Amino acid sequence: MKKRIAVIPGSFDPITRGHLDIIIRSAKLFDEIHVSVLHNTKKEGLFTVEERIALIEAAVSDIKNVKVRYFSGLLVDYCQSINANTIVRGLRAVSDFEYEMQLTSMNKKLNDEIETLYMMTNNQYSFISSSMAKEVAKFGGDVTSIVPNHVAEALWSKFDIKK
Ligand code: PNS
Repeated sequence: MKKRIAVIPGSFDPITRGHLDIIIRSAKLFDEIHVSVLHNTKKEGLFTVEERIALIEAAVSDIKNVKVRYFSGLLVDYCQSINANTIVRGLRAVSDFEYEMQLTSMNKKLNDEIETLYMMTNNQYSFISSSMAKEVAKFGGDVTSIVPNHVAEALWSKFDIKK
């Protein structure tokens, strides 16, 4: 039988507990999950692509069917290159909706064969984001409820915060 492969795309700058929740739940629904780090031209990165990948890999190391990859081009081209016909995105609050509609409709125009599925983020992660983690960490705040512990360490170290 054909493998059911899904892609979870994002900037992951850095991975949050909300992202991780979506990855863990999706891994139970698909044979293979590709967490793919892509460029969002609207965002400037704090972590390098290599650092983001290492942080994601450390977070998902105990989930067998998850691969972590980087792709420099279009998301739909990445999906096609690995025979994935599903994109999974987490949806936090209504404020995500408009942007996600734009993304999905653009991807549909680019490749009509690829479907986007939305998974509601667990309530406890509805109001967290990578940007929030960066801002709190920059001023020395505790980000361990927002990001996995090793990511919190990496954030503090980026901002030269001693904990
Ligand atoms: O975590 P983000 O920043 O919300 O993820 C957005 C991302 C990286 C998935 C999106 O910007 C993307 O797909 N970038 C790759 C380029 C692409 O395919 N763009 C087409 C849709 S506008």
